[in-house]
Amino acid sequence: MAFLTAAISSGQVTFLISFLWSLIAWLYAEFLHSLRGSPQLEGSDTVDEESHDPKLQKPLQPHEDDGAAAAANGAAAGGAEDPNDGAKPDGDVLSSSGGSGGLGGMLDSMARSGLVSCLLLRPRALVQQRLVLRQVVEFGALMAWYFVADRTTLVPHGDKSYSRDVFVFLFAALTAVAVGTSLRAFKIPLLLNRPQTEEWKGWMQVLFLLYHYFEAREVYNAIRIFIAAYVWMTGFGNFSYYYKTGDFCIGRFVQMLWRLNFLVFFACVVLRNSYMLYYICPMHTIFTVFVYGALAIAPQLNNHHGWLLVKILLCAAFIFVTWDIKPVFYVLWSPLKFLLGYSDPRNPTDDVLHEWYFRSGLDRYIWVYGMLCALMHPKASSLLKRIDDLPALRRHTVRALVLAACGVAGYVYYITIYVRPKYEYNQVHPYTSWIPITLWIIVRNMTPGLRTFSLRLYGWLGCITLETYISQFHIWMKTDVPDGQPRSLLVLLPGYPLLNFAAVTALYVLVSHRLFDLTNSLKSVAVPHSNNGLLLRNLIMMAAGGTLLWCAVSALYSTTSRLWS
Ligand SMILES: *[C@@H]1O[C@H](CO)[C@@H](O)[C@H](O)[C@H]1NC(C)=O
Repeated sequence: MAFLTAAISSGQVTFLISFLWSLIAWLYAEFLHSLRGSPQLEGSDTVDEESHDPKLQKPLQPHEDDGAAAAANGAAAGGAEDPNDGAKPDGDVLSSSGGSGGLGGMLDSMARSGLVSCLLLRPRALVQQRLVLRQVVEFGALMAWYFVADRTTLVPHGDKSYSRDVFVFLFAALTAVAVGTSLRAFKIPLLLNRPQTEEWKGWMQVLFLLYHYFEAREVYNAIRIFIAAYVWMTGFGNFSYYYKTGDFCIGRFVQMLWRLNFLVFFACVVLRNSYMLYYICPMHTIFTVFVYGALAIAPQLNNHHGWLLVKILLCAAFIFVTWDIKPVFYVLWSPLKFLLGYSDPRNPTDDVLHEWYFRSGLDRYIWVYGMLCALMHPKASSLLKRIDDLPALRRHTVRALVLAACGVAGYVYYITIYVRPKYEYNQVHPYTSWIPITLWIIVRNMTPGLRTFSLRLYGWLGCITLETYISQFHIWMKTDVPDGQPRSLLVLLPGYPLLNFAAVTALYVLVSHRLFDLTNSLKSVAVPHSNNGLLLRNLIMMAAGGTLLWCAVSALYSTTSRLWS
């Protein structure tokens, strides 16, 4: 077809079939729902829970509970190509995974799952899963928008152009709005509290995105530092969590992997892209796994400060051996070439692991430093507290001295490291990115007032960074071809670059936010937090269902193409 910019893959057809199936199931469910209460509907008496209706929700009976879980199952199945199963209330799960059943029990539980019931269009299951089906359909529709916006000529594209004036103006205007409308106080002046790190992520993300949109090459080095700061937060946040809670629960860990990779998986399928096009995702995934590993292996050592320090040093040594010695890196990662390989179609390379080596290498140590900072967090907090408690004159003097020291350090860093040209800068980035990050943390947290206040607008944007990161390629800018870099801009209002920017950005942020919500709600449907038997069953169902459908489509595809030729 003339408006497509590339051939269609069997993965895309698989997605389309799943999407159409879930669309039919959902429409049928809405239809059944509208008949609710009419006596001829099979099982209608049992299906009267509706989450918006508190009156109906109260007298929840056991089997209704069951149904809600089933709904979850159906949902995932539809939108994506992955069939998946719901997060059932534990009661149901126990009966299926425990006991004498074993494999038989698991198969039985699969047969009774919401996914299978919805596949078979069982009316009762459909009505119960209606809201989940709706989410699946919405997710599928947003993925279809990705495709239409990026891979067809239906939406025109425009060229990027950079003006420092516009770039800085947009950031300044947004910050002014954030200060004017969204300044919030956190209850306790905690060092690096959650709202503050979210705000930090948010404003960095805005600059990162504007850098891409306007191709603001002059801020390249700053953007590298921002990416490092995200990876630092991965080390810091995850270490703090495991250190404080000691919760190595598999369900939660899988939920985190889902959160990081659900959207990117579908973006890859729908747009025929490599995972590495979105390098932030594999990078955060792998470093998250490393932090988990560092603390989950020999967890009894986590109670001793000294042993934790040893673990952190071992992480640094591990990175040194597996990244700094390049042949080791290539040997270790070449089995995963199919997943981590990347070659820009407009600038092809034979060394498909280079992109992974380069991207992950830039920030290979900073997550370790993040763990170290998390370990030192209590000490740093009490130090800040001691400064806060000093008599006024000494307090001001100490703060002024600290700030002056930071200023000097920042200036020296700036003139010796930051100003280097791109390639030279990248050479030293892995060993120096901790400097601006540390300086920023100190300055941002110097007084209780600074620690307490944060800008909620940036915090809000900071929560959806993953979605805005992935979406920018396709529904804000355009890549046009599989694995292409986003070289051009999406145009809805030709001839008005700034108005177009405003309109496209509004739509893009809205869609990103919906994708964030949908990722989370489908996550709770598909990945049970605390039932490993059910988790295993769901993962098997999703993987097996998706693979089976994909194989069937591929077989059909090759047969038809043979017939054509
Ligand atoms: C761990 O890191 C990942 C990736 O940055 C993040 O999504 C997740 O929220 C982190 N977990 C915690 C507990 O901070």
